[in-house]
Parts: sequence; C-alpha cells; structure tokens
Amino acid sequence: MTQLVQVNVQTGRLRAADRVVVVVFSDLPAELGRLGAEGSRVAGELLRRPLLRGAGEGSAEASLEQGRRSLTILGLGRRSAFQEAALAKLLDRIAKESRDSEVRSVAILLPEHELFAGEASAARIARELALATYRFGRHEKRAKASPLASFTLGVPRGWKAAYGKGVEVGTAIAAGVALARDLANTPPNEATPDWMARQARSLARRWGARVAVLGLGELRRRRMGGIIAVGGGSGNPPRMVRIELGTGGRTVALVGKGVTFDTGGISIKPAAQMEEMKWDKCGACGVLGVLEALSRLKPAVRVRAYLPLAENMPDGKAYRPGDIVRCANGKTVEVLNTDAEGRMILADALSWAASENPDELIELSTLTGACVVALGPTGAGLFSPSDELAGALLAAAAESGERLWRLPLWPEFLEEMRGSHADLKNSGGRWGGACTAAAFLSQFTGGVERWAHLDIAGPAYVGGDANPKRGATGYGVALTVNWLRNDGRS
Ligand code: BES
Ligand code: MN
Ligand code: ZN
Repeated sequence: MTQLVQVNVQTGRLRAADRVVVVVFSDLPAELGRLGAEGSRVAGELLRRPLLRGAGEGSAEASLEQGRRSLTILGLGRRSAFQEAALAKLLDRIAKESRDSEVRSVAILLPEHELFAGEASAARIARELALATYRFGRHEKRAKASPLASFTLGVPRGWKAAYGKGVEVGTAIAAGVALARDLANTPPNEATPDWMARQARSLARRWGARVAVLGLGELRRRRMGGIIAVGGGSGNPPRMVRIELGTGGRTVALVGKGVTFDTGGISIKPAAQMEEMKWDKCGACGVLGVLEALSRLKPAVRVRAYLPLAENMPDGKAYRPGDIVRCANGKTVEVLNTDAEGRMILADALSWAASENPDELIELSTLTGACVVALGPTGAGLFSPSDELAGALLAAAAESGERLWRLPLWPEFLEEMRGSHADLKNSGGRWGGACTAAAFLSQFTGGVERWAHLDIAGPAYVGGDANPKRGATGYGVALTVNWLRNDGRS
C-alpha cells in the first residue's frame, strides 16, 4: 500500500523542517516567534509586503540557512472572508507544493481561526495531508515515490488535546481512504469478484473480524437471483462478502456496490470511457476503507458489511432484457436494461442486511449517471426516509469536507418502478434516474427504518485519461467514519 505522510502536532517552538509554511490572515498577527530567530526575521520581512497585507490571497517565498531550507508565507486575505471552500483549496495547495518541492519534511504554522480549530478540523487537515503523496504506482516499472515523509502542524497551545485526537482520527481515515483507492484503482483483469473477496478475507483477518464469502452454490441456496443474474455473463463468478467488526451499543449495516467491471451487459455501453467502469466497485472498496479506519479507532459500534461483487459482461450466459429475476427477499424484477445492474446486486445484499435487523443501514454505490447529471462530478446524492439520519449524514459530510446533497424519495418514483409482469422493473423512464433507482432500492430495506443510500457515481473517482488527478478518491470513507463516531457519542 502507498505510504502515508506522517502528521505530527507541535505547540510552542516549531521544529526545523526542510520547508516551513506560515499560513496568515492580513488582519491577524502571526506567532512568528515560534519559527526561531532566522525564520521569524525572514517571515517578518516577507509579511511587510503589500501583497500579504491586502484583502486578497497572496504568497511569498524566501530561503533559510543559505538555501538549505525554505520559508513560504501563504496569505489568505481577511480573516472574516475565509470560507470552507478556501480551506479545501489551501490544503490541496500545501499538499501539492510540498510533494512537488521534493522535500522530506514540512512544518506548517496554522493561524488561530475557527476553521482550523477543533478535533473535526484537525482530522480533516491531517487526512488530506497524510494523503499528499498518494499514488497508484503498482503497475509502473519506474513509479517515482515522493521523498515527502512528514508534516508537522504548529498550533496554539490550547489546541493540543483536540489536535492530538483529531490527527489520530484523520490518520486512521487516511489509511482507509488509501486502501479504498488502492482496491478501486486495481484494474479489472486483476480485481475480479473472487480477488476482491480474497482481499476482504485477508483484511478481515488482520482486523480480527468475522468474515464469510458466498460463492455460487451458497448464492443459489439463498435465492439471491439478482447477483446470480448479473454475474452470469462473466467467466469470473460473483461473490457476496459479509464481514462483522466490533462490538458495542448499536449495530450498523454497511452495503457497498462491487461491480468489478460494468460493460452494461447485453444493453452494452458505448466504447468511450468504458475503462472508467472499473471504478464501479468504489462502493464496496469504500466500505472496506471504513472498516480499515474503524479497526484502528475502535468506536463502540458493531458493524456488518455486505459486499455484493459481480462483473457485468455480455455473453451467451448473460442475463437479458425481458428476464424476470427473483431477489433474496422474494420480490421479482423484470429486467428492462442489463446496465441497471447495480440495483440488482444491491437488492440481494440489502435484503440480507435488512434480514439481520440492524439499527441503521447505509449503502454506498456508483449507481446512476443521472446523479452525476444532477449534482456534477463532485457531489454525491443522499436518499433516506429518515430526516434524522439524513441530517446526521449531512453533518458528517460537512465535517469531512465531502459534498453530499439530499434528494427525494417521493412515491411517484416508486410508482415509476412498478412492473407489469413482475413486482418491479429495473429501469424507469427518462426522468429522475437517480431518484427512481433509490425508490427501487427502498423495496429491499425490509423493516429497517433508518436506512440511507448514497449515490457516489460522481465523486467516487476522477475520470478523463489525461487528468493528472485521475483515479479513485475514496469518497465516502471519511463521512461514514465521522457519522459512526458522532452517533456513538450522542
Ligand atoms: N455504473 C453505472 C452508473 C455510473 C455512470 C457510474 C457513470 C459512474 C459514472 C450504472 O450501473 C449504470 O449503468 N446505470 C445506468 C442506469 C440506467 C440503465 C437505468 C445509467 O446511469 O445510465
Ligand atoms: Mn450499469
Ligand atoms: Zn454499474
């Protein structure tokens, strides 16, 4: 796995580092004394520049110790104008410049502003910095690793406790995100359903968790007709994984879509960008990332993860439009489009999860292109019949800096999904595709009232074969971990 950058916290005098970054507001004094004699003198000179004293953003650089170290001032403009979006940009910038400047250690003096204060901010900052050098380089003969090994965060004395805990949480989440990305980025010729199941099994062993992997025989015995149908066209047979981790007050089920490659099946997709459908397993990979973080943080909650894994291929044995399939909870589905395969495998996984009566059920899936049309590539859609659960998830996402927006589960959407020859059909009309998909899933959540579906098709990965940021993002890991921890506390 990719090495994370270590994140340390320091109050008082800031440790010497190859690169020192001082984050300042134009109308807030910086504690330059903490930079040592030369550092504070040089920083003081830079700060007299008009660029860093005005309302807008600016930056200035100087060298220290005859060029052996460098000092950068990042001016954020006026304190009152600083917003959450600017924090995201700032972290991105520090991560990128630190990686590109080929140094081993970076110290950052943070300003006393509420967007930097508190455990949640610390966790978010630590998570993003820990992932600064993340790269999926396993298949490159000469993958160049960045020498960047540590960030030290210089914070006010009063923040010591919050930052101590926050950095621990952020680091655990970063490990989960890195795992989710590594699994999701693994190409589909390697990451088959069985490979994913074997990864899950060995991870579960390391976590000390219980794990079960269902093969075709067991899927048939349990009458999981959805995943059997979707997996039918592939030479790589489907698997269903169940992992149970932790003990404590409540039981939470996590379900993640694991389509290791989605060609669309007989309703085949166009060729352009089809390679991006290796990321159709991001829901399952995200759930494993959540478990990785939980195995480190050990909150008082019992988590059961259900991962339906299948490859959607066209073939003589593939399921076809017109087929009627019986899912694990007994409901029948008429297949109108084999490319609406995610809901077919989720129907079985949700049915299984719900049959074990969890207190809450959260499901993550790259389910619809329609959700990307609605919200763009950076935000996920949230569907839940519970205002309370939806509110808690939105709060958790705000805390992690992941964009999440609630969409409706109106009865009209379910009407749209009712079948003529079966209980349901797997595809509705042209409109509201993310919402009709969610309405379909609602038919498999049994007696669980507090359930939520997150359509992560947009933010799960960065596509485009020339995009330098191309790859899985691990979206959803941080917000799910935050939600699990927050709810346990309240
Ligand atoms: N995996 C896709 C959804 C998707 C699209 C994910 C774009 C990421 C980016 C899903 O299986 C799918 O094909 N959905 C169809 C549903 C339709 C056939 C009802 C879609 O969105 O077009
Ligand atoms: Mn599809
Ligand atoms: Zn899909």
